[in-house]
Amino acid sequence: MKNIKKITCIGAGYVGGPTMAVIAQKNPDITVTVVDLNEARIDAWNDEDASKLPIYEPGLDAIVTEARGRNLFFSTDVERAIVEADMIFISVNTPTKTYGKGKGQAADLKFIELCARQIAAVATSDKIVVEKSTLPVRTAEALKSILDHTGNGVNFHILSNPEFLAEGTAVADLQNPDRVLIGGEDAEAIEALAQVYEAWVPRERIITTNLWSSELSKLVANAFLAQRVSSINAISELCEATGANVDEVARAIGLDSRIGPKFLKASVGFGGSCFQKDILNLVYIARSYNLKAVADYWEQVIILNDHQKTRFAEQIIKTLYNTVNGKKIAFLGWAFKKDTNDTRESAAIYVADYLLEEEANIVVYDPKVSSDQIYRDLDYLGTRSPADNRRLVTVVNEPYEAVDEAHALAVLTEWDEFKAYDWQRIKEVMKKPSFVFDGRKLLNRSFLESLGFVYYAIGE
Ligand code: NAD
Ligand code: UGA
Repeated sequence: MKNIKKITCIGAGYVGGPTMAVIAQKNPDITVTVVDLNEARIDAWNDEDASKLPIYEPGLDAIVTEARGRNLFFSTDVERAIVEADMIFISVNTPTKTYGKGKGQAADLKFIELCARQIAAVATSDKIVVEKSTLPVRTAEALKSILDHTGNGVNFHILSNPEFLAEGTAVADLQNPDRVLIGGEDAEAIEALAQVYEAWVPRERIITTNLWSSELSKLVANAFLAQRVSSINAISELCEATGANVDEVARAIGLDSRIGPKFLKASVGFGGSCFQKDILNLVYIARSYNLKAVADYWEQVIILNDHQKTRFAEQIIKTLYNTVNGKKIAFLGWAFKKDTNDTRESAAIYVADYLLEEEANIVVYDPKVSSDQIYRDLDYLGTRSPADNRRLVTVVNEPYEAVDEAHALAVLTEWDEFKAYDWQRIKEVMKKPSFVFDGRKLLNRSFLESLGFVYYAIGE
């Protein structure tokens, strides 16, 4: 049995950073090195001031502080880390392709392939290579082909070990996972990785499958989760039309143990770096096997999600007497969910873009997202010039500044602190009538109405 002493992880992002921090915390005898090409990101991981870590996750700073310098290291020296490792996790980004065949649907695997080529080029001893990134089913085949053609006599075993953590709860998810999934062909390699997790995960929660089941299970898990959100969001529109209340419906169905209560919160639409990308990838794979009905079925999850974001923006415009031109709309929240500074695919971006096309003035407050990031998100869409984005959008560091003289306020992220604001004060400084559009069903309708707000919430 191979005893793992040194682990390297390529990619110090939202997955690589927290995952390796927890592996290092729970395995003080294993040296864990996380490498990345992005020097600024590595510098931030090494910052003495734990509040400057490149990603915000509750509880992460304490774990990094505990393990960093002891058996957890962050570095840009990718080659050295590859040479020294017994086990290499690949945790780089796998975004949707933006060019060529499969544009807009397939996963772009160029970063994965670069990692494989670099491992093949510099490795001088046998390695277990672990796919941590989310990958299309059968990617391990391509990795194996690249690694096995190095010609320098090194043996590689490939494992699939997808990550199921959710942002905002990454530390808790890693410390107490529902399951750890390991797919592979070589029993010894599987056992070596299982032992790393066994330092804190009960053995019965470490499950093993063949490579292809493991790769596919990750895409399917995200597709099922996103499908639940789209399902309840579809019902939210029906609730608005019929006088039913979507929270009441969610509660009533969620008490059926076969359905279960989780992931039934209607919202302005799911965001995040993965749901959309992974479903598009699933759709692309199904199409590539000519499974049209399967592809169309899953594509509806995305179509409904886009509809939900548009519907929310249109509701704002309709309520504001069919024009938002020159009107000030305060956005509370920009992150795709609470307790993260991640904004990838956040519904806020698309709702803002829609309103900006109508020449609204948007003022954003988010407790964790920087103004640079907000402008980058809007510029990336390419809908209008960066100058116009800066003309129409203001980012503030203080919530009461955002709502001052605003015609309307929209809740885009469910940050807890929004609930505790002085809503009486907000009512006083907003224009009258004071409209609140709650895309997260976060606030209390009867309280806000008692203060005189006109309150709209998804699904009511
Ligand atoms: P990320 O963009 O935050 O991080 C990826 C990092 O990899 C970047 O810092 C990038 O600089 C680095 N990188 C890319 N190519 C490199 C190379 N050749 N050498 C060294 N570094 C390189 O991405 P992420 O959110 O951590 O996601 C990584 C993977 O994990 C994706 O496949 C994603 O689908 C999957 N995943 C993400 C989450 C999540 O919550 N974000 C959860 C589960 C799975
Ligand atoms: C999701 C999965 O939950 C993770 O298991 C998976 O590892 C990860 O994707 C990934 O592969 O990247 P994440 O996107 O970080 O995690 O966060 P979620 O909690 O799943 O939320 C995703 C989006 O759905 C958010 O915008 C959230 O606000 C929204 N959502 C979630 C709802 O609108 N309603 C819900 O009931 C649940």
